[in-house]
Amino acid sequence: MKKTVTNLLLDWHINSNKREMPWKGERDPYKIWLSEIILQQTRVEQGMAYYEKFILNYPTIQDLASAKDEDIFKLWEGLGYYNRCKNLLYTARSIVEQKGGKFPLEYEDILELKGIGPYTAAAIASFAFNKPFAVLDGNVYRVLARVFAIDTPIDTSAGKKQFAALAQLILDKKYPALYNQAIMDFGATVCMPANPNCSACKLQIICEGYKKGIVNRLPIKEKVLLKKNRWLYYFIIQFGNKVLVEKRILKDIWDNLFEFYLLESNEQLTLDKSSVQAFFYQHLGINNIEVVSISSVQKQQLTHQQIRGQFICVNISYIPENLKHHKWLSAEEIHKLAFPRYINQYLESNPIFNKHSYTQTK
Ligand code: ADE
Repeated sequence: MKKTVTNLLLDWHINSNKREMPWKGERDPYKIWLSEIILQQTRVEQGMAYYEKFILNYPTIQDLASAKDEDIFKLWEGLGYYNRCKNLLYTARSIVEQKGGKFPLEYEDILELKGIGPYTAAAIASFAFNKPFAVLDGNVYRVLARVFAIDTPIDTSAGKKQFAALAQLILDKKYPALYNQAIMDFGATVCMPANPNCSACKLQIICEGYKKGIVNRLPIKEKVLLKKNRWLYYFIIQFGNKVLVEKRILKDIWDNLFEFYLLESNEQLTLDKSSVQAFFYQHLGINNIEVVSISSVQKQQLTHQQIRGQFICVNISYIPENLKHHKWLSAEEIHKLAFPRYINQYLESNPIFNKHSYTQTK
C-alpha cells in the first residue's frame, strides 16, 4: 500500500522524532494555552524558560487569574507585545469567574476566548481534548507547500483557504494530537526553512516539491516587496554543454525574465566547495558534483531592495529525475533569452557565456 503523507508523518514522529519540549504530551489546556501564547512571542529555545517560570509560579489557571498584573508583566518581561500578556490575564480571569475555572471543551467555544485565534484554538482542542482540528502555523504551511508543490502564495486569502482545507483534509482524525505535534516538529527539525534535510527525509518518496526540484522556493509569499535585503545565490548547473535555466513566474522583481537555479536567503550564506556539495546532496540528491567556481559577492541596489549574492558554477555528470523537466540550454540558446541585469553582469564576465567565445568557434 502506498503510504500517505499522514502515515509517513506519524511514522516519523513515533520512530524518529527526538525533539523534546516541556509541554509535549501535555493534556492540561491551561498549560498548552500558555505554551502556545509564549511561542507566538519567541522561539522554542527561549520560550522554554518562560514556560517553566510561569508554570512554577502559577501552576493552575486559578493561580494566574488571582495574580497581580504587575507580577505577570514582570514575568513576561523580554517577550514584548504586552497585549498578548493582557489577554492572557483577561481570559484566565474570565474562565475562572464565568466558567468555574474550567476551560471550554469545544473548538468553537475556545475560539471565542479573547486572544485565542484559529491556530491556538486548534492546538488546545487537539492537544488537550484530542479533537480533530488541524493546526496551521508557519511550519505546517511550509511542509504542505513543499510536499504538495503548491505555489499559491500563503499570505493571500486564496492561499490561506487552500492550505487550511488541505491541512484539515490530511489531519489524522483519530490521532489529531499526535499528528499536529508531528507536522510541527517535522517542519521545525527536518523540513526547515533554509536548509531542509531532504536527503534524510522520510517523506522524500512522496514529496512533489522534491520531485520537481523546487523545495527551496516554497512556500511562496506575495509580499516580497517588503523584503529589503535579499541574498540570491545562483547555481549555474552545467551538464555537458547545457545549463539549467528557469523562468521567473512569480509576482516579484524580474517577472518573466530568466534565471539559473536559485537559492534565496534573507541572510548571507558562507559558501565553499564542501557546503555547495552538501547543498546539492541535501536538496537535490546529487552526489559527486564538481564545483568549478564560486564568484565574489555581487551587488545591485534596486529602488526598495538591496540585492546581493554569488554565482556558483558546478558540473554534474547526470541529470537527476527532479531536474529533468527544467530547461537545459546551450550558451548560444541562453543568449537569446532575457535575463535580469544582475545576472547579465555576471555572465559577461564568465568565459563560458562570453558571446565571442561561442560565435568564434561556430
Ligand atoms: N510551535 C508552537 N507550538 C508548538 C508545539 N506544540 N510543538 C512544536 N512547535 C510548536
